[in-house]
Amino acid sequence: MIRRDRRNHWVPTLNTFAKHKQLMQDQLELKDQARILDLGCGYGSALRFFDMHFDCAQLVWVDNNPRAITIGNRINAQKNQSHIQLAEWDIFDTDISWYDYIYIFLMPAVMPRIQARLDTHLSPHTIVIVNSFPLPDRKPIHILSNIETKSKVYLYQK
Ligand SMILES: C[S@@+](CC[C@H](N)C(=O)[O-])C[C@H]1O[C@@H](n2cnc3c(N)ncnc32)[C@H](O)[C@@H]1O
Repeated sequence: MIRRDRRNHWVPTLNTFAKHKQLMQDQLELKDQARILDLGCGYGSALRFFDMHFDCAQLVWVDNNPRAITIGNRINAQKNQSHIQLAEWDIFDTDISWYDYIYIFLMPAVMPRIQARLDTHLSPHTIVIVNSFPLPDRKPIHILSNIETKSKVYLYQK
């Protein structure tokens, strides 16, 4: 889906694909009572997936697209998932220091900046779950993959 940002540019907001949700459902193991942050949550599709399939104590999601937040909150209410916290905020101003997991599904061009942010602000205990586009210069601790669906999700830790 395409939306217009504040500077009047067209930029993409894309939900996590079903094949990646299936991959995580099949292969991802999260600790109980997980605290999860989605950096760039869009309409909150990934957050609702985590809420349904894992034992989550806290789900926080930020996006700088106010329309996505409005729509995401509306869907959360319709699906009785209003406990999920969606916030209009910039990824690079977000405190990422105290979550168990950080989920990232962003365009490849922004990944070097994301990596720099993680290098300086990530806690050693946090696991970063990166959908499709890996960090440019970091070795993952694990890779979830499905050859048939050509899907990959990368796990990183400081
Ligand atoms: C590919 S979508 C992913 C949506 C969601 N995480 C999912 O997987 O369903 C990326 C989102 O990141 C948001 N985004 C991009 N740069 C951002 C920034 N600097 N601060 C906050 N959100 C940002 C976009 O608005 C878009 O909604």
